Amino acid sequence: MNRTLLYTVLLFAFMTATGYAVYFYKQSQLTDEKIVEAMLSENDFPEYHFALIGEEMNHDYWRLVGQGAEKAEGSYDVFVEYEGPKRSNPVEQLKLLDMAIKSKVDGIIVQALNEHFTPLIDQAVAQGIPVITIDTDSSESMRSAYIGTDNYLAGQLAGKALVEDTKGEATVGIISGSFDNAHHLQRVKGFKDVVEEVEGIKIVAIEESNISRVDAEEKAYQMLSEHDNITAFYGTSSYNGVGIVAAAKSLNKQNDMYVITFDPIDENIQLLENGDIDAIVEQQPFEMGLLSIKKMVENINGEPIQEVYHTDLSIIRSSDLPNRNRQQSGSL
Ligand code: BGC
Repeated sequence: MNRTLLYTVLLFAFMTATGYAVYFYKQSQLTDEKIVEAMLSENDFPEYHFALIGEEMNHDYWRLVGQGAEKAEGSYDVFVEYEGPKRSNPVEQLKLLDMAIKSKVDGIIVQALNEHFTPLIDQAVAQGIPVITIDTDSSESMRSAYIGTDNYLAGQLAGKALVEDTKGEATVGIISGSFDNAHHLQRVKGFKDVVEEVEGIKIVAIEESNISRVDAEEKAYQMLSEHDNITAFYGTSSYNGVGIVAAAKSLNKQNDMYVITFDPIDENIQLLENGDIDAIVEQQPFEMGLLSIKKMVENINGEPIQEVYHTDLSIIRSSDLPNRNRQQSGSL
């Protein structure tokens, strides 16, 4: 073999070996990068994990709370686990609270329906998990803050609306969402404190609906059968108005019946448009959800937060609807 051929073979072998070396070096670099990327993405969890526990998932009011929380979730490094019984069930709701404590979330936002929630809230706080109450407060617990309606004031507003609209003359039946739950008790108390000051207004019966439209209808029907002089109803929960109207219709009493209820869910707005419901107490569930996440993050970050954030309240009558529809369609 002559020298030139030998050098050519050696040069070719050298270049091939160098090529492979460079290729494998690049490949190993790429693999390292991928490993680092994978490790980073595995640790790319949001900074905080919160549990938000409501009363009834299959309900327009609670869907709005969830949407508010979801909006806030987009602005902070948090993951919000939103849960609650499908249908109102305080025992199941307490179990969810217990599970959130056991799974050591970073913060709990809970509707504190009744006094059974207080020891569990205190247990969470004792274990270092901050708690914010929403919609219904447990003021004697160790929660950091309450965000929601002033339920006593809401009852007073409803009472004032009824007095104004009936010109101070009415025989009233009350359908409360529940006799055990703090917010409904406060809504009834606020209402009574206002109407009992007015001579022409008499409350003749009070029943509970377990926030269900079927129960509300049954109770309203029973009340109307026992007290055929009832001229007005006050419902403290979203579906009470729908139930009251159905009962009044089946007894052919809807025309002269004054009805005030809570929450502008679609059915209530339709009944307001038709004139079957006369007034609705409007709360701010979206705002409650949004603010609860914001305040929990601030609280955990050591920023000062207030003890109570009362969200807005208003009364909607049919005369407010055109303005409201214009606002919602953005044509104002
Ligand atoms: C109350 C909630 C309740 C909802 C459904 C609202 O008026 O604020 O606590 O879960 O009605 O009845």
